[in-house]
Amino acid sequence: MAANSGQWNNNTAFLLAATGSAVGLGNIWGFPYKAGENGGGLFVLLYIFFVITLGLPVFMAEVFIGKKGKSNPVSSVETLAKASNSSKSWNIIGYGGILASLIIAGYYAVIAGFVINYGFISASGVDVGAAEAIYTAEKANFWEMTMWFSIFLFGSGFVVANGIDKGIDKAMRFLLPMLFVLVFAMVGYGAIAGDFAAGLSYLFSWKADDFSAGTIQAAIGQAFFSMSIGMGTLMAFGSYMPSDQKVSRASSVVVTADTGVALLAGLAIFPLALGLGFSPNAGDTLVFVTMTEVFAQLGSIGQFVGPLFYFLLAVAAFSSMISILEPSVAFLSQKFSMTRVKATSIIMAVCFGLSLVSVAGHNVWNDVAIGALDNTFEAMKYFADDFLLLLVGTGMSIFVGWRLQGALDNDILGIENKALMNLWVFILKWVSPIFLMLIWTLGNLQILFGIRFF
Ligand code: TRP
Repeated sequence: MAANSGQWNNNTAFLLAATGSAVGLGNIWGFPYKAGENGGGLFVLLYIFFVITLGLPVFMAEVFIGKKGKSNPVSSVETLAKASNSSKSWNIIGYGGILASLIIAGYYAVIAGFVINYGFISASGVDVGAAEAIYTAEKANFWEMTMWFSIFLFGSGFVVANGIDKGIDKAMRFLLPMLFVLVFAMVGYGAIAGDFAAGLSYLFSWKADDFSAGTIQAAIGQAFFSMSIGMGTLMAFGSYMPSDQKVSRASSVVVTADTGVALLAGLAIFPLALGLGFSPNAGDTLVFVTMTEVFAQLGSIGQFVGPLFYFLLAVAAFSSMISILEPSVAFLSQKFSMTRVKATSIIMAVCFGLSLVSVAGHNVWNDVAIGALDNTFEAMKYFADDFLLLLVGTGMSIFVGWRLQGALDNDILGIENKALMNLWVFILKWVSPIFLMLIWTLGNLQILFGIRFF
């Protein structure tokens, strides 16, 4: 088991696993709050625009590297670099991805732990007006937060340790249907109990005066994160694809499902929040403070709908967490010929440590700023999401567009139309690297040094 990377034993496994990966806290926690912060409609339109023009092409590039390289993110890149007479140093893409995955795992588990905690809080009933104080108290509790994230982290580690068929595929087959039923149930409930028309218009109405460089950055970063681009998840899952499955078609299905669920999450949250008189611009506490207040106002039915909502978030987060762990576990087990169980145990230890650092950023080290960033949690989130993911994404785009140009076999890709094929390569070679690096540079200058150009 240790040496080769294995294969999904059926044609839906990739679709389920990649969708489970893509649909996560990014969709249900991140997308609505960022849409809320950035004024709604314009952000949503930009988001969809970037998903189609940049996200899908780079998504396909990542899956392609995995499917053609047939191994973990580092070895896949190395194999393809060798075959195309490129420097072995391209493997930095793989290592960068793995580094990002560990850091993301560290903070992602902490947010997910919060979600589980909130499931119980909302079930026990919250007094109207108490949500803010509850949040402050929960955040301050180092040991309680550690307990919640541990449950989540070791639960997902257990699935990954069981392998790609008996662990990941089996779990996804169970989690994904549940996720979709829960999303639709929440949208349905929002339509009945909230103001659906207000939610819809908030999500899609165009307010041009909200437009700024920051909106573009937020939309593009959110799109890449939500599609799970840039840390090797898609390479790893792509490498397990059966040979007759086509990258282009499978990618389009996953990207469509991911975008659909982000919009549905907006349609679950905004009608309720707006209908009960709350503004959806609370920022990253939207699903914790604002929604807890919403459930409190709903009274006893809130004690039922609230836990359902947090359960949905937990399910989405769990399937994503599995996919965040896979690249590093695949790498360790193949590179050092160790069993998955052993590789997973090592990764669990690393992630546990990183999660502790992330928890501490909420309480004991809350005042310890890291450069321009408020605390360790924010610093980890920033370094992985805003710094590493876009760099690795750009690297993959350049690698496939420039170095693998002669090796883009269509029986792997399945892009029948010649014009589309040329367009894809053109985007990978020019559009996405230039655009991503521009956004990356502007964004980092602004965050790290406070320099703002427009
Ligand atoms: N896309 C997931 C979400 O929306 C998170 C995630 C899983 C991810 N795997 C990833 C993000 C790989 C970036 C890269 O929550």
